[in-house]
Amino acid sequence: MARATASVAAGSSGVTRREFLYYIWGASIALFTAQSAGFLVWFLIPRFREGEFGGKFILPVTDLPEPNGEPRDNPAGRFWLVNLDTTQPNLRMFQAQDEPEPIQGVAAIYKVCTHLGCIYSWTPANERFECPCHGSKYRLDGRRIEAPAPRALDRFKVEALDADRNVLAVSSEDPRTGVFLPLALPPNTTLLSIDTGKRNLGSSEPLLCSFTGTCP
Ligand code: FES
Repeated sequence: MARATASVAAGSSGVTRREFLYYIWGASIALFTAQSAGFLVWFLIPRFREGEFGGKFILPVTDLPEPNGEPRDNPAGRFWLVNLDTTQPNLRMFQAQDEPEPIQGVAAIYKVCTHLGCIYSWTPANERFECPCHGSKYRLDGRRIEAPAPRALDRFKVEALDADRNVLAVSSEDPRTGVFLPLALPPNTTLLSIDTGKRNLGSSEPLLCSFTGTCP
C-alpha cells in the first residue's frame, strides 16, 4: 500500500524515482569535475607574484648604491642590495689575502643570519652587518668576519635587464662553492631583477678575523 502511495507521489510531480537518481548522479559528477578543474587552475597559477617574497623584484638600476656604498635595504624582498668593487677598497669592502680575483658587481643578500635565523642589520658605525642574537658579523658582500655563523650570507639570483625587460646578463654560480657571484652590469642595464625564489647558500670560507688576528 505504502509502495503504491510513493509511486503515485513521484508520478504526480512528473519525475520518477529512477530519473531522480540519475539527476543526483549527474550533479555529483558535475560537482566533482568542477572541483578538479578548480584544483588544476590553482595548481597552475604561480605561487609567488612579482614584487612578493618568493617571486621576482624588478628595481631600477638607479636604486643601486655606489660601489662599496652602504647596502640598500629591500624589506619586502628580504634582501640587501650591494654594489661591490674591491679595486676601490674602503672599510666596508676590501680584498682579503685568500681572494685572488677582484670582487666586482651586484649581489642581493638574504636578510637572515646563517647561524640560527635571526634578522641581522647593517651597523654603519662598524661598516658591517651584525647579528644581535649571538654576535656574528659579516662584510658588505656577506662573507663572515666573526662566527658563530657557519657560512657566509645567502644570495639571490640577479639579472640585468634593458628597458624592455630583455635579459642582458645573469649572475653565475661559483664553480667551487655554488654561490651566486656578483654580477657585472652590461652598459645598457636599466633594470635589475632579483629572484627571491632562487637562493644559494653562502660559502664557508675562513673567517676574515683570522687574517687580522682579531678573532675573539
Ligand atoms: S642567529 Fe645570528 S649569530 Fe646566532
